[in-house]
Amino acid sequence: MILVLDFGGQYNQLIARRVRENHVYCEVHPHTMSLDRIREMAPKGIILTGGPNSVYQADSASCSPELFRLGIPVLGICYGSQLMAYLLGGRVETAPTSEYGKTEVTLRSGRSKLFAGVDTKTICWMSHTDYIAAAPDGFQITADTPVCPVAAMENEAENLYAVQFHPEVMHTVQGKVMLKNFVYAICGCAGDWKMDSFVRRTICELREKIGNGRALCALSGGVDSSVAAVLLSKAIGSQLTCVFVDHGLLRKDEGDQVEAVFGPNGPYDVHFVRVNAKDRFYQKLAGVTDPEQKRKIIGEEFIRVFEEEAKKIGAVDYLVQGTIYPDVIESGLGKSAVIKSHHNVGGLPDYVDFKEIVEPLRLLFKDEVRTAGRELGIPDYLVNRQPFPGPGLGIRIIGEVTEEKVRIVQEADAIYREEVAKAGVEGLGQYFAALTNMRSVGVMGDGRTYDYAIALRAVMTSDFMTAESAQLPWEVLQKTTSRIVNEVRGVNRVLYDCTGKPPATIEFE
Ligand code: XMP
Repeated sequence: MILVLDFGGQYNQLIARRVRENHVYCEVHPHTMSLDRIREMAPKGIILTGGPNSVYQADSASCSPELFRLGIPVLGICYGSQLMAYLLGGRVETAPTSEYGKTEVTLRSGRSKLFAGVDTKTICWMSHTDYIAAAPDGFQITADTPVCPVAAMENEAENLYAVQFHPEVMHTVQGKVMLKNFVYAICGCAGDWKMDSFVRRTICELREKIGNGRALCALSGGVDSSVAAVLLSKAIGSQLTCVFVDHGLLRKDEGDQVEAVFGPNGPYDVHFVRVNAKDRFYQKLAGVTDPEQKRKIIGEEFIRVFEEEAKKIGAVDYLVQGTIYPDVIESGLGKSAVIKSHHNVGGLPDYVDFKEIVEPLRLLFKDEVRTAGRELGIPDYLVNRQPFPGPGLGIRIIGEVTEEKVRIVQEADAIYREEVAKAGVEGLGQYFAALTNMRSVGVMGDGRTYDYAIALRAVMTSDFMTAESAQLPWEVLQKTTSRIVNEVRGVNRVLYDCTGKPPATIEFE
């Protein structure tokens, strides 16, 4: 096991993820963890993360210098490297010039275990205002840059390593090699950890924590809440109640698919409650055209329905949420302008009587959640599902939402997804049909039509913060168009959205 001690840097969970990619188990803990606890955990290696402080400030995050004498290999990254230098007698100062971004680093020694297989000149990601001006006694400087005299240093005999740059981010071109060297060559990890170990361990921990208690899960049918629900069901079976609110704004057949998996005829021993609440939602949305108002109505109504169901169940001990790591980071930022008020089934705690929130996936990234889902035997169509917004089709229908418009967009979207799947198009982050609020003149048979235009959207993105419009094969677009205008009543025109994000957003509202 590798222990990551968190000094408040932005990329801490990314470090953990990189370690896990090497099939080595990894946990992130606060930098305040006691030495006794660390000895008890007996990690094979320790990584000190970056952080926002300056090591020489009185109240800066620190650790005991004894940490470096436990006989456990340590890798300090950025702030962690400066802390190692500072606590062991080196000198840390404000750098004359800050280094941010991709920087060429020159390796000085050809024999560092950390840099085995790394080029002498290698591009690394820097982000620092302080730097190590002088390495502590016993340390050898193993890399530098024109600005940074100690871009990396090590004391091989004591198994202490430090890098000023961030090997965990992808812009450090050979960062993965360095971390692999650390966990295997330096820490001697076996590399036999797999996601099934996470799954088994989490189930045991949940079982121990919840005991005979009762848990409630708001199930959306999306990947995250489905994986969380299955983990819980394996841990506590029928002590778990899953409430699935069908707001009538789901994709075609989605409600039934979720019920097939989690309902009484599915493989899991959970108490499943499906609330068919579409009429309530349609009534509330009648006549409303403003996107933010629609979002708020859907979000609030969702909570109300959930609350009513939760009350029927009575007090529960635990509320289960499918929060994953990117949600944690995004909610931590919280300072940017509100572009859209995102609604997530996660945001319910104020309304439900419970003791504690359980978030078994909060340290995982999306692809890791999918891997865990496969380990748990969740069907592929659920595990591989593309992201679907909480307000559902409500924000893919421009203008007023009506039952008829929901039918149109559901059918068009189902055709589009079928054709994309059939053509085996890969690399799409998200793709869907939206119903514009525009009607136009067409001709069908010998008659005039005046019908809606469907907009197709497909984007490539890795983080959903920015996105490029995908260049779908023309044949796929043509086939989809022809099927939609022929099979979906009320549509006579299909448009393709070529806009990126920014300036557009991925969803239409
Ligand atoms: P936008 O439209 O903001 O979407 O570019 C970025 C990503 O977020 C999803 N999205 C939501 N997800 N609740 C969610 O859980 C929401 O209210 C919501 N709005 C947008 C969107 O599908 C895309 O993946």
